[in-house]
Amino acid sequence: MAFDIDMIKKVYKTMPERVDKARQIVSKPLTLSEKILYAHLWDGQPTTAFRRGKDYVDFAPDRIACQDATAQMALLQFMQAGKPKVAVPTTVHCDHLIQAKQGAVPDLKRANETSSEVFDFLASVSNKYGIGFWKPGAGIIHQVVLENYAFPGGMMIGTDSHTVNAGGLGMVAIGVGGADAVDVMAGMAWELKFPKLIGVKLTGSLSGWTASKDVILKVAGILTVKGGTGAIVEYFGPGAKNLSCTGKGTICNMGAEIGATTSTFGYDDSMERFLRATDRSEIADEANKIREYLTGDPEVYENPEQYFDEVIEIDLDTLRPHLNGPFTPDLATPVGELGKLAREKGWPIKVDWGLIGSCTNSSYEDLTRAASIAKQAVDKKIVAKADFGINPGSETIRFTAERDGILKIFEDLNATIFTNACGPCIGQWDRSDLKGEEKNTIVHSFNRNFSKRADGNPNTHAFVGSPEMVAAIAISGRLDFDPMNDTLINEDGLEVKLDAPQGIELPPRGFDVEDAGYVEPVADGSNVDVSVSPTSERLQLLTPFEPIGGSVKGAKLLIKAFGKCTTDHISMAGPWLRYRGHLDNISNNMLIGAVNAFGMKTNFVKNQLTGEYGGVPDVARDYKAKGIYSIVVGDHNYGEGSSREHAAMEPRHLGVAAVLVKSFARIHETNLKKQGMLGLTFANESDYDLIQEDDTINFLDLDQFAPEKPLTLEFVHADGTKDVIVANHTYNQSQIDWYNEGSALNLIKRENAS
Ligand code: F3S
Repeated sequence: MAFDIDMIKKVYKTMPERVDKARQIVSKPLTLSEKILYAHLWDGQPTTAFRRGKDYVDFAPDRIACQDATAQMALLQFMQAGKPKVAVPTTVHCDHLIQAKQGAVPDLKRANETSSEVFDFLASVSNKYGIGFWKPGAGIIHQVVLENYAFPGGMMIGTDSHTVNAGGLGMVAIGVGGADAVDVMAGMAWELKFPKLIGVKLTGSLSGWTASKDVILKVAGILTVKGGTGAIVEYFGPGAKNLSCTGKGTICNMGAEIGATTSTFGYDDSMERFLRATDRSEIADEANKIREYLTGDPEVYENPEQYFDEVIEIDLDTLRPHLNGPFTPDLATPVGELGKLAREKGWPIKVDWGLIGSCTNSSYEDLTRAASIAKQAVDKKIVAKADFGINPGSETIRFTAERDGILKIFEDLNATIFTNACGPCIGQWDRSDLKGEEKNTIVHSFNRNFSKRADGNPNTHAFVGSPEMVAAIAISGRLDFDPMNDTLINEDGLEVKLDAPQGIELPPRGFDVEDAGYVEPVADGSNVDVSVSPTSERLQLLTPFEPIGGSVKGAKLLIKAFGKCTTDHISMAGPWLRYRGHLDNISNNMLIGAVNAFGMKTNFVKNQLTGEYGGVPDVARDYKAKGIYSIVVGDHNYGEGSSREHAAMEPRHLGVAAVLVKSFARIHETNLKKQGMLGLTFANESDYDLIQEDDTINFLDLDQFAPEKPLTLEFVHADGTKDVIVANHTYNQSQIDWYNEGSALNLIKRENAS
């Protein structure tokens, strides 16, 4: 489990020289984000000043982290690359496939039975290729990474969009698709458009009920789910120094909810404390030697408007606790104002569940702050009105929290302690209190609250808050409860008030654990067997995609997606997680959550060959069987949400040649490119309205596909009339090479062989 100190020393050795050189080249002081980016160029020494938001740059990340749901496809792809070992330190974390139902022990046992095939596959591939393996129950990927692998000034990629959590320990950590991770595992560069920079200046300090979570809930309200797209959000200022390291992690974690490439904080005392508390004093000692390189230059923070593309200022002294939701994480409402809004909107006031945990808020500090509220309920004889569920972030936290009596406090409130895993945050929740799709409200300390995310019920109104606010709201059982001003009636009929939460940043007796759940790979994995049964319904070895080529004529419109179309809509999670390693089976969920603009129903599209309506995957399979490509049309920020490359592989597998939308979420657009298909945007957004249900599409100049040259598409309508639409793209030459080869992986393999 040991972090790679030699690798870190190497990074710190080269960083000062590279940063100084970069400062010279760009002729200005540098932000922390720029320092980390310029220190991780694939070509080593910086020689060019990159244009933010424009230039594609090759980077050399220090680490890779994969979670079990995405690792299956990533490792299946890596196996195709023909390499004996991963080129960069990599870990796999089993956290997504464990359903929350009865509590940690029975739930973990059931997961180990139902998903043993997948866990065994991941364990054996990890062992074979030199990958560190974290067993089911070891914890949630981002919490485990923060506790074990993140380090100030490092660059990491991970096959999960909340990889960004490691920004809390001063990294540039970015969520990518499995295909990107495979490139880096195979020893290749990782390409990213040089991000824009958003500076968030924090002043003051948190007090009372306001938590780190409220910083990002506020930022999400300001920037919205699209506001961070293509940018790194860098937090600085005196307020930043007043936050704990895990609190910083929470803020960075939910940067994914504003579409940010990542978020980060400069190295400070809170990070040093966290490194030492997690047995990594060696890293802290090394980091202290180059401290000024692990934060932005002072001039940058003195005059942020000059150096960032956008600056936001938040005063922690006046920041109020928020609850964001329902159905989107950027709908920010200060606690105290939510009751009125909920009544106006018809959101259920009664709260059925309070869930604490997820990679966002499951640190020791989070648990102690929430426990300080739970303890008051017990002490003041208040019966909790809603059910409580807790997912500790890691076995280390769980063990320590149990030792310190924190879990007991929740248990005294009849909380269910679920496995150290994602659970309800990813729809892995067998919720027994609902019979059907009743309208109801839950509050949680997670990051996402899209429709159906937690329990598959489209009528569950999920609100996101800090763990302590979730605890208070769940105790009251009401969405309109404001613990700062309202009182509750206890068992004796007395009016009582909850005091503000008290947290403990780090365990005073230190962290402790008996079995953290880590398995070190063997030094030589050449004799390790990895077997995949050809009859497995959960795992399937991949076959390379055929190139689509320079001529696409007579393609059929598959669906014109209306409104929000996240990766959850394109490739639903929940029960489908089961098939993450089996491309053909999981393709049966392709776009089944997307609303078709014709008819406004989900999973109901016209098969132009038969005139009948059917599910999206079925219609796509029919076109594919007849040798006809199909096209998906979409709205704004298509593919927002996660790094799930299945959302790109499934359409590719089912014969979709192009996805044409008003705008893309970055990771999804890259994933489409990696899979050798076309991700295009309307040059004129209103052309979306020209697309009709029976359209046949001809690409007029695909044979001249080139960087910065828009493509022209002819949409032939049922009545024979035509509209010619110009589509923009962001492919550079190497991405066009992926398209020409059929996929990025095909290109890696060919280059490997030659
Ligand atoms: Fe898991 Fe939810 Fe985080 S799915 S990795 S706890 S966002």
